[in-house]
Amino acid sequence: MSSDEDVAAASRHTHFIGKKENIIQARRVKSVGERDVLVIYHQGDFYAIEVRCYHSGGPLQEGDIEVSCLCPWHKYKITLAEGEGLYQAVDPSVKPLKPTWCSRGVKQRVHTVTLSNEDVFLTLNDSPGPTDSDYYQTEKYRNTFLKD
Ligand code: FES
Repeated sequence: MSSDEDVAAASRHTHFIGKKENIIQARRVKSVGERDVLVIYHQGDFYAIEVRCYHSGGPLQEGDIEVSCLCPWHKYKITLAEGEGLYQAVDPSVKPLKPTWCSRGVKQRVHTVTLSNEDVFLTLNDSPGPTDSDYYQTEKYRNTFLKD
């Protein structure tokens, strides 16, 4: 693909989300093409993550945000930048037992956020490899909790 084709392809997948100040004040869920995406501002950075949790479709827009997003349904942790599922593990041979955070790998599809002056744009990550959260972007689930 030529450089011009790359630019054209990128612009087809890039969407205006809102004004920077508005997203800083309140997280936002946007339906972009075939996907519903949660856009968050957290500690100086913007993130875009698919809104339904990879575990069972929980509403991440209602989750607590730390360094990761904590799903409100079963409390799974998902990193905002990479979409990694996190879990705590202990090595039973080490006493006293001390839990450490480990990664299940990338489970939640994340997208790219860019800024242009005061405007926030989202570029969809349409990489072909399935991500666990893709299951909850199907029509069956898209008609659930976002429609009110
Ligand atoms: Fe179970 Fe998110 S739906 S942890």
